[in-house]
Amino acid sequence: MSMQNSPVSKEKDKAPRRRLTVPDLIAMKGSDTPLVSLTAYTAPMAGLMDPHCDMLLVGDSLGMVLYGMDSTLGVTVDMIINHGRAVVRGSSHALVALDMPFGSFEASPEIAFANASRLLAETGAQAVKIEGGVTMAPTVRFLVERGIPVVGHVGLRPQSVNVMGGYKAQGRDEDSWKPILDDARAIANAGAFATVVEGVAEPLAAEITRKTDNVIIGIGASAACDGQILVTEDMLGLFEWSPRFVKRYASLGPTITNAVAGYAADVRARRFPTDKETYKMLAKKS
Ligand code: KIV
Repeated sequence: MSMQNSPVSKEKDKAPRRRLTVPDLIAMKGSDTPLVSLTAYTAPMAGLMDPHCDMLLVGDSLGMVLYGMDSTLGVTVDMIINHGRAVVRGSSHALVALDMPFGSFEASPEIAFANASRLLAETGAQAVKIEGGVTMAPTVRFLVERGIPVVGHVGLRPQSVNVMGGYKAQGRDEDSWKPILDDARAIANAGAFATVVEGVAEPLAAEITRKTDNVIIGIGASAACDGQILVTEDMLGLFEWSPRFVKRYASLGPTITNAVAGYAADVRARRFPTDKETYKMLAKKS
């Protein structure tokens, strides 16, 4: 009998899967099986993704994806708290991490702590994510030493779009590697248990993954990383455009358009609702 079909493994399959913890994710550094992560903003989507993911990120990308903003800069702590609560309610397995939005952590470690502790206390999520490198390392250390698990975010940093001059891939020539590598190492040394590395060339991603001892989660950063993350709506094909590094696993945009056009046509032609979708009167009691 193979182990897979044994009664023991069947019992294990039936056991409720517990929520993954920070040490569970730390153990994925250098593992043969990469860490799987996606963004999540709502309870039903979190529920659908939870069984397949190790980490769900309530990213500040929600400003652009859900609210139609031009950048992530207008996202607030309250927005992340509301969506974070929904994602924690909708999931039971994946670790839930919350983005610290622009303006909520940069001014001082104390302000970062006040906002990070609100994010965790008011949602039940387990970690926060902070964009930034060497400059933010003291803040990362301050949070970690006070019990707040931190995920870093280096390379392409969408909150710095105005400084970076757009959403451009980073580290495509070797001369530009040093500051990004320094950022990744500073954040890891400050105690971040994982770091998202966004939009960097493959050899730099490989170097960062080799030279840091935390879990490197790539987005547009090649297969060299310890794990992968994507914006869920991008990989589900909700939008016409998505970045080059996204693989589309569905075409939700055209699927939704067809469904809505079908509904509109049915209503206008009086094909919906039919008897099947209509309440009738109850039989009168005699
Ligand atoms: O805000 C976000 O969704 C992110 C991911 C793209 C990593 O930071």
